[in-house]
Amino acid sequence: MEHNIPELVAQLTLEEKAGLCSGADFWHTKTVERLGIPTLMVSDGPHGLRTQDPEQDDPNHSRKAVCFPAGCSVAASFDPDLARREGAAIGREARAFGVGVVLGPAVNIKRSPLCGRNFEYYSEDPVLAGELATGYINGVQSQGVGTSIKHFAANSQEYRRMSASSDMTERTLREIYLPAFETAVKKSQPWTVMCSYNRVNDVFASESRMLLTDILRTEWNFKGFVMSDWGAVADRVKGVAAGLDLEMPGSGGVNDAKIVAAVKAGTLSEAALDKAVIRILNIVFRAADEAAAPAPELDLKGDHTIAAELAKECAVLLQNRGVLPLKKGSKVVYIGGFAKTPRYQGGGSSHINTIRVDSALEMAESHGRRVSYVEGFPADLDQREEEEFLRAVSAAAEADAAVIFAGLPESFESEGFDRSHMRLPESQNNLIARVAAVQKNTVVVLHTGSPVECPWANDVNAVLCMYLGGEGVGAAADALLWGDADPCGRLPETWPLRLEDTPCYLDFPGDGVTADYREGVYVGYRWYDARKMPVRWPFGHGLSYTGYVYRGAALDADTLTPGGTVTARVTVKNSGAMRGAEVVQLYVADATGAPVPGGRVPQALRRFAKIDLQPGEEREVVFTLTPQDISRYSPELHAWCAAPGRYEIRIGHSSRDIRAVLALQYADAKI
Ligand code: BGC
Repeated sequence: MEHNIPELVAQLTLEEKAGLCSGADFWHTKTVERLGIPTLMVSDGPHGLRTQDPEQDDPNHSRKAVCFPAGCSVAASFDPDLARREGAAIGREARAFGVGVVLGPAVNIKRSPLCGRNFEYYSEDPVLAGELATGYINGVQSQGVGTSIKHFAANSQEYRRMSASSDMTERTLREIYLPAFETAVKKSQPWTVMCSYNRVNDVFASESRMLLTDILRTEWNFKGFVMSDWGAVADRVKGVAAGLDLEMPGSGGVNDAKIVAAVKAGTLSEAALDKAVIRILNIVFRAADEAAAPAPELDLKGDHTIAAELAKECAVLLQNRGVLPLKKGSKVVYIGGFAKTPRYQGGGSSHINTIRVDSALEMAESHGRRVSYVEGFPADLDQREEEEFLRAVSAAAEADAAVIFAGLPESFESEGFDRSHMRLPESQNNLIARVAAVQKNTVVVLHTGSPVECPWANDVNAVLCMYLGGEGVGAAADALLWGDADPCGRLPETWPLRLEDTPCYLDFPGDGVTADYREGVYVGYRWYDARKMPVRWPFGHGLSYTGYVYRGAALDADTLTPGGTVTARVTVKNSGAMRGAEVVQLYVADATGAPVPGGRVPQALRRFAKIDLQPGEEREVVFTLTPQDISRYSPELHAWCAAPGRYEIRIGHSSRDIRAVLALQYADAKI
C-alpha cells in the first residue's frame, strides 16, 4: 500500500512525534489512532522467539516457540545458507505471532572467550560473522518480517555493559568490530539496527553521530531505523541528533518531554526529529502491510524437526582417534547429566520457552541403541559424589565405549555477567579424567556456549562439540555419535590451551570505566598466529568421518590491479566412504614487508564455501577477489588501502591446515 509518510508526519503534533520515538511498553511502538498509525511488535531474538504471552502481564512470560541453534552453533556451520534457513523458520513463527521485527542477529566479535554473551554471537572473525548475519537477515526478511542487527557497536563484554567504554584505535574498530555490521547492512539491509549499551572511545553508542549517522547511513547507506538496546539511552536529546530513532522500551514519557522541550528551546532541530519519525514509520507501515497477507500456520513440530536438522550441521568434531562413529550394536555407557538434560540455549533475553527438548539418551533409547546411563554429575551444578563417580567409572570400564556429556551449567555462562575462568566444573574434569583412565574409548560431548579448557584432551579418544545446539541438540548428537550423519561444523573461534593465552587476558574486562582494547587487531587467530602459539584447536578446525583431497589450486592471474579482480579456484574431492560437507577456507597474507603501524596480522579469512559431496564426488570452488580483500584500514587516509607487492592466497581446511599457497602481486598502492 502507498503511504505518504512525510505528509502524515506534517499532521502530527510535536508531542505525538516525540512519543512515536519511544516504545509504548516493552515490546510495542505507539499508535496514533486518528491518523491510522499502527503499532509494531518486536520480540527477541536471535535464535527463536521470546514473544510475550498476550494472556500474561509479565513481559518476560513468553509464548511457546522453537529454540533453534544459538549463534555460537550457527557460526560453526560456516554456512550462510543454514543461517538463512534458521532465519526463515523464525520469520514464519514471527508472522504467526504477529511479530514485526525479530531482535537479532547478534554479531558482536568474540574478543575474549569470557564474554557472558558469546553464545549468542557468531565469531572472532568479522568476515564469518558478517556473512552469517547476512544469511540470517535474508531468511527472516524473506518472510516479511524485519530484523534488528545488534549490538552496534563494540559490545564485547557484559561487565558494566551499560557504561564501560570500549577504547580502541580507528583501525581496530574498522577492521575488527565494524565489518560484520557493514557486510550485513550492505548485503541484506536489515529493517533496523540496535545500538549497544556501551560507550565507544568515551561516546555512548546511543549518542554517537559517527556510528549512527556518518558510518551507518552515509557510508553504508542503511535505510531503516535505529533502536536503542533496552534502557541504553543516556541523553535522549543527544541521541535524536546523533541518529538514534527509537528508544526502547520507553521512559514513561520522561524522555519524550525532553525532546519536546529541546525542540521548543531550539537546541534540537525539528527536522532531526521528523527524520527519526519518518524512518520509524516507514518500517511500521512496511510491517503492517506485510502482516496484511495471511500468516503461515504455526508449525512448532515441523520447526522442531528443522531445529534438529540444523543442529546436526553445526556440531564440530574436535578430535577423533578412531572411536567415532560408535559401532552399532556395541555396548556404550552415557555418563553426565547433560545426556538427559542437555544445555541447548543460554540465559538472558534470548531464552526461549520451548515445546520440547531432545536428549541424546532418549534418542539412543528410541533408536534401540545398546546404551546404559549413569548420571555421574548433574547438569546444573558443580557437584561431586564419590558413590556416583564410582558407579560411572565401573560402568565405563565394563562398556565398549563411554560417552561423557559435559558442559557449562546455566550458572556459569549467561547474559548479564562474564565468566571469570574458562574451566568446566571441577567435578566434570575430575570424572572425565577418571573415566579416561579406565576406558580407552572415551568420548566427551560438550554443551557450552564458548570454549573451555580441556586439560583431559590428550587422554580421551574423541571430543564432539555441540555448542548450544537448540532444542534438537539431542537428536543431532545421537545421529553424529552413531554415524547416521557426518560432522561438518568448523570452529568459528580459536580454542586456546588456557585462559592466560588469550589476546586480552591482561585487560579483560577492564576496570568498569574503560575496556582498553590494547590487543588491537590481534583478536582470535590473528593473535595466536602472530605469536606462533600452540592452541588446543585452531579457528576453522573440524574433523569429519570422511576425507577431503584438494587439488589444482590456481589463480587466473598472478597480478591484481586497482579496480581489477582475480579468481582463485580449487577442486575438492570427498575421498572417503560417506557423504560429507567440506568448508573450503581462503585466507590472505600480506607478504609485502611494507611497514604497518599497529602491526601486520599474519593472515585473515576472506572467503569460505561449504560444499556438500557424495563419496568420490569432486567439485570446483571458485572465489573472486578484489583489492579490498588484500587491504587494511589506514587511519592516516581514513580509507582502505593495500601496499604494492607480494601477497599469499592460502586455501585450506582450517587456519592451520593450509593445503595450497598461491602468490599474488599487487601493482599499486591504491585500491
Ligand atoms: C539485550 C538485547 C535484547 C533486549 C530486549 C537487552 O537487555 O541486550 O539483546 O534484545 O534486552 O530483550
